[in-house]
Amino acid sequence: TEPLRLGIAGLGTVGVGIVRIIQKHAALLEQRAGRPVVITGVSARTKTKNRDVDLSDYAWEDDPVTLAQRPDIDVFVEVMGGSEGPAKDATEAAIAAGKDVVSANKALLAIHGQALAESAEAAGRVIRFEAAVAGGIPVVKALTEGLAGNDITRIMGVMNGSCNYILTRMEDAGLSYDAVFEEANQLGYLEADPELDVGGIDAGHKLALLSSIAFGTQVDFDAVELEGIGAVSIDDIRHAADMGFKIKLLGVAQLTGRGLEQRMSPCLVPDSSPLGQLQGGTNMVVLEGDAASQIVLRGPGAGEGPTASAIMGDVMDIARGLRISTFGQPATGLRKARAARAAVP
Ligand code: NAP
Ligand code: HSE
Repeated sequence: TEPLRLGIAGLGTVGVGIVRIIQKHAALLEQRAGRPVVITGVSARTKTKNRDVDLSDYAWEDDPVTLAQRPDIDVFVEVMGGSEGPAKDATEAAIAAGKDVVSANKALLAIHGQALAESAEAAGRVIRFEAAVAGGIPVVKALTEGLAGNDITRIMGVMNGSCNYILTRMEDAGLSYDAVFEEANQLGYLEADPELDVGGIDAGHKLALLSSIAFGTQVDFDAVELEGIGAVSIDDIRHAADMGFKIKLLGVAQLTGRGLEQRMSPCLVPDSSPLGQLQGGTNMVVLEGDAASQIVLRGPGAGEGPTASAIMGDVMDIARGLRISTFGQPATGLRKARAARAAVP
């Protein structure tokens, strides 16, 4: 049987994690997919960097666009990051060259997802992005597959592990926001631009992506009402605790009487609730459907293993011939989020 051949652009935390899974589980993946899943080529900025993994069997490309266009790859795996530049150029090039795409890049998809999904659809290709939302938690698959028979009424959750780490550490140690922010930064928990985390932008990207799948609307990140955690003080946390609440950076998306609302902001949640009990870098997503009722998914929202695990789930779908469209429905059929808002009385 024909192997599924991958080109992996980005060999940082996530890219190396994917290489490790494929090297460790080659036989298991082949058994499950009914065909070998192999890496043909890789790309990163610096060829000479020691990545603590054997890359000698793979073709090296300095330019991710060239990797995306190679005739000997079937799937382009984009794990570089960034909403513009090489990630966008290479993703577009991959689709134009007739490749499927698996991506962990929430920033790219939250901003350009509709255009990319339409291009992919026109070319008969799919873009899958399980790893972009809540790391190792298979929440995209839960919405597009397991809950496909439901009218989704609300999605809710903690989708940024760094912010949850900062808030729980402030609670536990009684430290100020500034002190814990500095600590998290030293530990390498924050994005290169920490404002993406603490400003709620990263979590907002994730909420916008889930909203599109859940409510059949075009991704509209600009419509997410965003407030980060920078203004949460230790006094706020103490007062909340006195009343039996925790403060969490909570995303909520729902169709209300005013239309589709997407909010990502610090919220009070009851101390004893599953969301209130969520510690450290863990994520939790609550999905509500008219038939299934409430489904709660909890797990690691980041890190090498969990994020690479989510990438591999998408790769395995493609290897098995499961072709779910990017947002779980034809991209050209997605309504504008703001028109959807106006359409609801
Ligand atoms: P990372 O550790 O910073 O790695 C980025 C990789 O991309 C590096 O290998 C880098 O090359 C390569 N790269 C950057 N610019 C490039 C260019 N112009 N050409 C070729 N290669 C380039 O990032 P990461 O943490 O693995 O994250 C990758 C993606 O996954 C991002 O979209 C991120 O948001 C997403 N994600 C990450 C996590 C996580 O836990 N880390 C979780 C969910 C989603 P060099 O190594 O040579 O510098
Ligand atoms: N910065 C993100 C977080 C990484 O802390 O959740 C995973 O998307």
